Amino acid sequence: MTIHKGQLIVALDVATLDEAKRLVRALEGIVDIFKVSSQLFTACGPEAVRYLLREGKEAFLDLKFHDIPNTAAAAVAAAVHITEGGRGIMMCTLHALGGPEMLQAAVQAARKEAQVAGVKRPLLVAITVLTSEAKKDNIARLVLERAALAKESGLDGVVASSQEAALIRREFGKDFVIVTPGIRPKDSAVGDQKRVTTPADAIANGSDFLVVGRPVVSAPDPASAAKEILKEIRQVRG
Ligand code: C5P
Repeated sequence: MTIHKGQLIVALDVATLDEAKRLVRALEGIVDIFKVSSQLFTACGPEAVRYLLREGKEAFLDLKFHDIPNTAAAAVAAAVHITEGGRGIMMCTLHALGGPEMLQAAVQAARKEAQVAGVKRPLLVAITVLTSEAKKDNIARLVLERAALAKESGLDGVVASSQEAALIRREFGKDFVIVTPGIRPKDSAVGDQKRVTTPADAIANGSDFLVVGRPVVSAPDPASAAKEILKEIRQVRG
């Protein structure tokens, strides 16, 4: 998987594997990376990831692990072993709040188990502050502190609002992966998200991956919603 600025990830936030399959088919030729989150994974387990891999898609497993180091590392190891045709997940999330010991244990587990499973090591990214959080008045500082912790612990990058992406990019350099949810094209419903930005602003702020759920998943026509977002991304990327 080549990482470059502004790749679109669609969050398969649906209740059943059938619904997920319908979305993936509707977005064929438009979207290549899909996120499997706690809802779909709890409903149908690793099969959701294996399905994506069979279809030649990239799978981002967003289970936001946050536990004692041993348990979090074991969960990452299990995630690395979800494979199909010699490929595994491309990225996986943990909460930076889990602390350095948990994050380092996860990195070690991912390295070791990727070798055992014979797959590429997935990118590990830390959740800094959820994009639905708006009450704290020191969010930027918190995000930077947690991003520093992620980097020092050996993670590849962070999940953060694109409102903080420019700061993160400046502080941690071009190779640090920035994943931004809370993307809302103009005129789309914000829902429970608080720190939202448009796709264009997310790219301008330096995001590598834009995670979009409801604006595509709940659109009357998901394919044209995704195409509109990609158009906006391309206009900024040039
Ligand atoms: O529907 P919406 O575009 O708000 O979906 C955003 C997706 O990104 C959801 O699957 C949510 O769990 C996820 N996410 C987030 N904020 C984070 C990390 C992940 O919204 N910090």
